[in-house]
Amino acid sequence: MPKFLGRIEFPCTIELGRGLEGAITNVTRIGYVNGEEGHLNYRGYSIEDLSDNCSYEEVAYLLIFGKLPNRAELNTFQLRLRKSGELPEEIIRIIETLPRDAHPMNVLQTGVAAFGCLDRDSLEVTRHVSDPAAALEIETEIAIRIMARTRSIAAAIARARKGQAVLQPDPNLSFTGNYLYQMSGEKPSPVTEKLMDICLILQADHGMNASTFTAVVTHSTLSDMYSTIAAAIGSLRGPLHGGANEAALEELAAIGGPEKAKAWVAEKIAKGQKVIGFGHRVYKAYDPRALVLKKHAEALCREKGMESLYRTAVEVENLFLAEMKAKGKPIYPNVDYYSGIVYHALGFPTPLFPVIFAVSRTAGWAARVLEYLPENRIFRPRAVYDGPTDLKVVPIEKR
Ligand SMILES: CC(C)(COP(=O)(O)OP(=O)(O)OC[C@H]1O[C@@H](n2cnc3c(N)ncnc32)[C@H](O)[C@@H]1OP(=O)(O)O)[C@@H](O)C(=O)NCCC(=O)NCCS
Repeated sequence: MPKFLGRIEFPCTIELGRGLEGAITNVTRIGYVNGEEGHLNYRGYSIEDLSDNCSYEEVAYLLIFGKLPNRAELNTFQLRLRKSGELPEEIIRIIETLPRDAHPMNVLQTGVAAFGCLDRDSLEVTRHVSDPAAALEIETEIAIRIMARTRSIAAAIARARKGQAVLQPDPNLSFTGNYLYQMSGEKPSPVTEKLMDICLILQADHGMNASTFTAVVTHSTLSDMYSTIAAAIGSLRGPLHGGANEAALEELAAIGGPEKAKAWVAEKIAKGQKVIGFGHRVYKAYDPRALVLKKHAEALCREKGMESLYRTAVEVENLFLAEMKAKGKPIYPNVDYYSGIVYHALGFPTPLFPVIFAVSRTAGWAARVLEYLPENRIFRPRAVYDGPTDLKVVPIEKR
């Protein structure tokens, strides 16, 4: 099937491709991906500015409430997050019962969905359908609860995989500090916490990507917020989306050193295979998140004695990009290429990479869903039917 499907003149010209390329879902004030020039902003602030000067909690607040919090607002927000991060026995049991080698994204999705069975308030959106302001208020509260709960489930998964006891959050730590503490049992150094904060900030929101679209579509049926976030986690899991950081690192590690990059890239190109961690539907320039992470990956790999991995990544990037530029279609690294290296150098097991992405993106999913709610209309696109219309059923014995 051709990629280009048609053109709509309304009120501007939109070119549509398969995979809803070019389709518009709604008007948003949450964030803007400038794919041509390689810029990303959240509510008007560049991600470089936010990752240099804010914590993940401030950025999550910005995405959800539309402004950067002052000190008092941040304190209240942190309190709301802290109140919800405890894991009840039922959830811990589920996480510990599932096979240790189950994919962490499946366990995360199960944990979030199960939490929905315990949170009686999560039915409220349906009850408040005739009162949009009340629906927005309760859904915002539940979204904040889910942010903290997703984080705690994610950390619990890391521990359960190693047969370690699940840890509850420490009320004196930040959102990110707790994520690291609940995973490792150790309070992180300020440097590690800041680096993790940067990773979470960079992945907190990114336009109407597949998982965000999944969240908005799910919630547009007035489904509950837990089902919404669980659906989005399922969508994020795939290697074309949030699973790419896991796949990209596995590919890089398998190359076996920078000196082997040339032959590896040549083989990929000769076989017409995709290099995971490259390309993007929207970015036609360098993904700005990858640029920030590349800088940190370099410093971190040097510090941890992992220069070979970093140099392999840079070598692959240079060779692959040069080849693609020569073919007239430059394809740049995306966020997943360098985030995988940073997570690896921070000591996270590879299967947990997409889970970190999900913890971060929960803020963006929630923000987009809450923005859409006051003007909610159920999503219902159509497919072009291209099959027969005149068949008659033949009795089963005669088929
Ligand atoms: C991100 C991605 C899914 C976007 O998909 P998309 O918008 O549907 O783009 P397409 O897959 O149609 O790719 C467009 C063209 O670029 C090429 N291309 C895209 N990504 C590529 C990659 N990583 N390696 C090699 N070629 C790639 C495709 O082969 C295609 O070439 P063609 O026009 O000659 O057929 C895609 O780039 C990809 O699969 N990347 C690898 C997975 C990944 O890193 N995902 C994380 C995204 S943040």
